[in-house]
Amino acid sequence: IQAEAMSRIAEIADMKGLEDARVAILGKKGTLTQAQQGMKDVPKEDKPAVGQMLNEARAAITAALEERQNALQEAADKAAVAGIDLTLPARSLPAGGLHPLTLVRDEAVRVLRRMGFALAEGPEIEDEFHCFDALNTPTDHPARNEKDTFYFDSGKLLRTHTSTVQVRAMEKQAPPVRIISPGSAYRRDEIDATHLSAFNQIEGLYVDKDVTVGDLKGTLEYFLKALFGSETDVRFRPHFFPFTEPSFEIDVKLTVAGQAPRWIEIAGCGMIDPAVLEAVDASRGSSDYAGLSGFAFGIGLERLAMIRWGIRDIRLLIENDVRFLAQFQ
Ligand code: PHE
Repeated sequence: IQAEAMSRIAEIADMKGLEDARVAILGKKGTLTQAQQGMKDVPKEDKPAVGQMLNEARAAITAALEERQNALQEAADKAAVAGIDLTLPARSLPAGGLHPLTLVRDEAVRVLRRMGFALAEGPEIEDEFHCFDALNTPTDHPARNEKDTFYFDSGKLLRTHTSTVQVRAMEKQAPPVRIISPGSAYRRDEIDATHLSAFNQIEGLYVDKDVTVGDLKGTLEYFLKALFGSETDVRFRPHFFPFTEPSFEIDVKLTVAGQAPRWIEIAGCGMIDPAVLEAVDASRGSSDYAGLSGFAFGIGLERLAMIRWGIRDIRLLIENDVRFLAQFQ
């Protein structure tokens, strides 16, 4: 059997022949397999010797098949490149790159994680409780208006800010909490050079014992300088949000050569209003958050990208014009 198999293998001319031979010799009904099945009729004293012989035959045939296969493959590879001029220059393959928004988000997340913030997330389709009620926003607040917020017939809505994740994170875990949450938010805003109706924010939240305005300022100043350089001018302006007190808006000075410097608003922030901690405790059925303090911030990611690269019109970020995008590779 072995001699017959070897001479057959030596004559195999292609992959199909190789497979046919493998089946005919080693397959379920193959010649060698059948011989091995005949072992049961071999007298007991001859079994070890015959068995060993058959095993050796199988090993030798398997090796011969493999060798033949390698030889055939090598020949096929040679034939495939014969006649091709390997010295011709290659055609260039245009490579894609990451979108500037992705780049700036990843960079911001990297800096904040280094500062000890963990990633958290929440849904984009929200309920009024997580978007407004728990955030101390009264029913008649203008942000809740149908003219400003996208509502579904079900009463659910597209979240208008990532502050929803503050509530969800505190509902889920006991203090201290130190999280960030990048994600999309939606408002029925008129689209112009600085506004989109679907945009992105990074929310940040830190709640613990004795967190102060100094911690808030220090954290955000450090973050913005890590992102934009140590020379960056940062300004905190008093503002109002229902869920923080005191509240601030943060401006960063944008200096472009040949232009008058301009302050750009990039974030809202403030010290968590105790009413938010109360709403969270009521929802958890706990008093874990009573008496604690904390800060929160919501940073506009498109605005960060605009400052980072001097982008004049926010709409460039959603138009997918490759002449624009190719500049970020
Ligand atoms: N949610 C606010 C906004 O989108 C920003 C903010 C977040 C303000 C956290 C204070 C605290 O405008």
